[in-house]
Amino acid sequence: MKIFKKLLVISAVLGAIGVAPFAFAQNNLPDLTPTKADVAKAAFKEDAKCTKCHDESENAPILSIYQTKHGVKGDSRTPSCTSCHGQSDKHLAGDKDGKGRPSPDFVFKKGVYDKSPSQERMGQCQNCHKGEKRTNWNGSQHQVNDVACNDCHVVHNPVDKVRVKKTQTQVCYTCHKEQRADSYKTSTHPIEVGKVVCSDCHNPHGSAGPQLLKKNTLNETCFLCHAEKRGPVLFEHQPVVENCANCHTPHGSNITPLLKDRPPFLCDDCHDKPHDSGKLPGPNVAGKPFTTSPSSSLMGRACMNCHTMVHGSNSPAGGYLQR
Ligand code: HEC
Ligand code: HEC
Ligand code: HEC
Ligand code: HEC
Ligand code: HEC
Ligand code: HEC
Ligand code: HEC
Ligand code: HEC
Ligand code: HEC
Ligand code: HEC
Repeated sequence: MKIFKKLLVISAVLGAIGVAPFAFAQNNLPDLTPTKADVAKAAFKEDAKCTKCHDESENAPILSIYQTKHGVKGDSRTPSCTSCHGQSDKHLAGDKDGKGRPSPDFVFKKGVYDKSPSQERMGQCQNCHKGEKRTNWNGSQHQVNDVACNDCHVVHNPVDKVRVKKTQTQVCYTCHKEQRADSYKTSTHPIEVGKVVCSDCHNPHGSAGPQLLKKNTLNETCFLCHAEKRGPVLFEHQPVVENCANCHTPHGSNITPLLKDRPPFLCDDCHDKPHDSGKLPGPNVAGKPFTTSPSSSLMGRACMNCHTMVHGSNSPAGGYLQR
């Protein structure tokens, strides 16, 4: 505004000394449509009607929201208290009928008042957060089961545990006990050390694939990190191409590496005791007949003693998944 006044004075002076201010004004008059900063400032002014009561004296963090992306000055998209909690006229009006102060329109956490229904709470966030990673939110396992945005996220606290790699699992484990139990098994993804997190494989906001997986198929999700297993290979192993989970379990197993069962039993599930002839297979292994199956006579890596390339082989001689 100050600049504008100065400009007015300048153009008045120019006018007085006979210089037409027209060209000057047309090119240099400030644009009076509100800037992003003006809009954000207005949001903070709007906040004052709430922050005059809800200030530093609160036990829970309230004003610390200004240390988060929801309190960025100069960003016109910055919400005010009412963008999330609603206009809350009755709450503002106070204890009119002597029954106590009515609650704000939207309450996210149980305190003095009950929290609002989960679908209403998530609706408030969705007013601004549709699309991108949340394109598939509606209809997703979490949305349908009434898990609201703020069942995972906190917004008044500058640290949002679910978005910090080291602490994310703490949030997920509050509801997913089975995955916590899996994390204590001998063979796991390096989840506890924070190298791999749940959200590396899952999109908790919804997905087009199964089990909230980030990609459209389970295998595509694994290939994000295990690209070498994608192939193509000269000799494929059908179950690998089909679904890694035919043999592996992603969260944890007592059979290394993340196997669902111990070979040879894992293999026998589909192969129904091959080499039943009792003869040693192939020209490369000479000698004694098998007693039951080759694995029991050749301990350790069982079937993989010979079929070393269980994910598929590129060797021209690699039929039967050999090197
Ligand atoms: C005149 C004072 C006053 C104003 C203004 C006010 N509140 Fe409140 N608010 C209260 C009181 C009193 C409570 C009851 C809980 C307490 O003692 O903190 C409360 C409770 C709440 C709660 C629930 C807290 C809980 O622990 O359950 C929320 C959320 C809330 N107010 C949001 C707002 C919002 C948003 C605004 C602005 C639109 C607002 N308030 C304006 C006095 C006020
Ligand atoms: C009035 C619009 C608006 C509403 C309502 C809103 N947000 Fe936001 N939110 C934003 C903006 C703007 C950003 C900053 C985005 C950016 O910087 O790209 C943001 C950022 C975030 C972030 C990322 C923060 C970061 O540090 O990167 C999270 C998480 C989030 N919002 C969750 C929520 C939740 C949960 C709710 C409902 C309780 C909610 N938002 C309601 C506008 C809104
Ligand atoms: C099951 C837990 C969970 C729920 C429910 C959840 N989120 Fe998230 N959200 C996460 C995790 C984990 C991350 C960090 C990993 C990532 O970016 O995908 C995240 C990241 C974000 C971000 C910042 C990154 C980005 O996408 O721009 C925003 C914004 C966000 N969530 C908004 C929401 C909103 C809005 C809802 C409700 C519609 C919601 N979240 C529901 C777990 C959750
Ligand atoms: C982005 C949405 C959003 C905005 C903006 C927002 N709140 Fe909240 N508010 C929440 C959520 C979600 C909670 C639940 C606790 C949390 O996530 O930190 C909450 C909790 C509260 C509580 C209860 C505190 C508790 O933990 O018991 C009060 C009081 C409150 N908000 C007041 C305000 C005031 C005042 C403002 C404006 C300065 C404001 N809120 C801005 C979403 C929002
Ligand atoms: C390495 C990728 C990966 C990581 C990391 C991961 N998951 Fe999964 N998750 C999967 C796959 C793949 C499935 C589907 C399993 C199947 O089809 O057998 C799944 C399934 C699930 C299911 C559905 C139930 C089930 O077991 O089939 C839940 C719940 C789940 N994951 C939660 C989590 C949580 C919580 C974390 C973090 C502690 C996590 N996941 C980390 C890949 C992963
Ligand atoms: C407030 C509880 C809650 C929290 C927190 C939570 N979830 Fe869930 N989650 C559920 C419920 C309820 C379902 C649907 C029922 C089921 O499949 O167990 C679900 C479903 C899932 C599924 C799909 C299971 C399937 O069979 O399709 C995955 C994957 C998942 N959650 C991952 C996560 C991850 C990752 C986190 C942390 C970022 C998380 N959840 C946090 C409650 C929660
Ligand atoms: C975000 C990256 C990432 C994704 C996605 C991923 N993994 Fe992993 N995987 C790793 C890392 C890191 C290791 C540990 C490697 C190491 O210790 O050298 C690992 C190790 C493994 C191991 C060996 C475990 C052991 O005990 O040695 C198996 C098996 C495995 N992953 C299978 C899968 C399957 C199946 C999928 C898809 C459901 C998958 N991974 C998705 C990163 C990933
Ligand atoms: C037919 C069963 C089977 C299928 C299907 C399968 N694997 Fe494996 N995988 C194994 C076995 C057995 C081992 C141990 C190999 C060994 O000890 O030589 C293993 C080991 C691994 C390892 C750790 C050692 C290494 O080779 O890097 C990773 C990572 C892995 N598999 C990823 C995958 C991925 C990704 C898929 C899906 C594309 C997949 N596996 C499909 C049986 C399977
Ligand atoms: C989920 C079922 C399944 C599992 C588990 C499985 N396989 Fe297979 N395997 C198949 C199928 C299907 C074929 C293709 C059969 C065909 O072409 O006739 C195949 C082919 C093979 C072949 C090549 C046969 C040929 O004619 O070239 C070998 C060797 C083999 N598997 C070994 C193993 C070993 C070793 C394991 C355990 C680590 C294993 N398989 C686990 C389903 C499975
Ligand atoms: C001592 C090495 C050796 C061991 C151990 C071994 N195989 Fe084989 N296997 C072979 C050779 C060599 C062939 C090639 C075909 C032949 O000559 O019979 C073969 C062929 C196969 C075939 C395709 C032909 C058929 O019989 O269906 C399958 C499937 C197979 N093996 C699975 C397994 C499984 C499962 C195990 C573990 C229980 C296993 N093999 C253990 C060497 C071995």
